[in-house]
Amino acid sequence: MSVLFEKTAIKDMELKNRLVRSATHEAMADDRGFPTDHLFKFYDRLANGGVGLIITGNTYVSRDGRSKAMLGIDTDEHIPNYRKLVNNVHQNGAKIAMQINHCGRQTTKDMTGTQPMAPTAVFDKSLFVMPREMTEADIERTVDAFAQSARRVRESGFDAVQLHGAHGYLISQFLCPHTNRRKDRWGGALENRMRFVTEIYKRTRKNVGDDYPIFIKISAYDHIKNGLKPEEGVVMASKMAHLGFDGIEVSCGIGEDGGSTLRGEIPFDVILDEWDMYKEKGFIFRFIMTKFGKKLLKPIPFTQGYNRETAKIIRKKVNVPIFAVGGMVAPTFMEETIHSGAADYISLSRAFIADPKFPNKIKEGSRELSRCIHCNLCFFYLSTRSVRCYQGKRMKSNQS
Ligand SMILES: Cc1cc2nc3c(=O)[nH]c(=O)nc-3n(C[C@H](O)[C@H](O)[C@H](O)COP(=O)(O)O)c2cc1C
Ligand code: SF4
Repeated sequence: MSVLFEKTAIKDMELKNRLVRSATHEAMADDRGFPTDHLFKFYDRLANGGVGLIITGNTYVSRDGRSKAMLGIDTDEHIPNYRKLVNNVHQNGAKIAMQINHCGRQTTKDMTGTQPMAPTAVFDKSLFVMPREMTEADIERTVDAFAQSARRVRESGFDAVQLHGAHGYLISQFLCPHTNRRKDRWGGALENRMRFVTEIYKRTRKNVGDDYPIFIKISAYDHIKNGLKPEEGVVMASKMAHLGFDGIEVSCGIGEDGGSTLRGEIPFDVILDEWDMYKEKGFIFRFIMTKFGKKLLKPIPFTQGYNRETAKIIRKKVNVPIFAVGGMVAPTFMEETIHSGAADYISLSRAFIADPKFPNKIKEGSRELSRCIHCNLCFFYLSTRSVRCYQGKRMKSNQS
């Protein structure tokens, strides 16, 4: 039997295999952040495809941290719907965790109804957003929103909760020196930059109890000049394990660093046609971006398992399960990742968008690569359409 199909447990959560659907924003929520019927069906297909653990798309803890068609868990009214979703997934043989998030500066005023906030007022070059600096009261309110949301996650029946500490969203904005330039106790040395996530962890633990798995997804490094360096990312992960997190998913990147989280193609034509903030720009801007976009944003080429080495270094230093995510495409490579001690779990996002049945196929003996060709259209079309696989094919404007 493939090592990928060994049974494991994290606290009381028993998993039938080591394959995890990494959090993937589906853009299948209504305006109140409630899951649509479309999302229920999407999760049925995922669970039926044989995955061990599904981590939901990022879900907002308060409305000032939401993005387009994002799930929400900011009020108790959400609980009954999520109970149904969890039951469906359990009936289809998988476990499910919810990823909770606040977008911070990586969203727009159109989405939040108010100026986006961040640890420091640093302009976001990918979304053209200038956030306001968070006050002590904002920090206190947001820490509480995370902890209350985690309580709702447990009350909804999810098997675990995951904090989104990666990819340049609010927790990651506190951790990254480029986005956190505060001079008070929330900024500066790593210990101070970690204070926000530490407070969230402590209050979340109080709300969900010692027996409940709390995971975190981190960007262990990014490609910003004054960003987070891998050496510091490793120290940060060790401190998180020490704090009590029950699992760490090792990712990388922030929104404006050339798409390092995803790697592969950056479809500039789609961004210019679909993203509101780009659509509004004049002819000269569009001309420059079409001609020189690749030089200005410097897309990072796709390579298989691009976070595996970092995951391995972290795993050697901590005694909690490590989830490796990023460019896992070949079943043999995934098996090697487990055998070599680089990770305990293999997290996949695009492979599941391209084919939810990927785990069942591997279980039946297939050694074929994931169908995903890293065109990244599933991601860049999210501003106007719910998630699906395009396999490199562009949509006509306004076609959904
Ligand atoms: C369409 C799309 C939506 C995503 N949404 C999220 C999200 O909500 N939360 C998150 O942590 N990562 C999100 N990601 C990043 C993935 O979870 C994953 O870290 C990244 O795609 C690399 O893994 P892969 O090579 O298996 O796709 C998203 C990726 C894609 C393609
Ligand atoms: S659209 Fe399909 S092929 Fe392209 S990156 Fe997304 S999942 Fe992969």
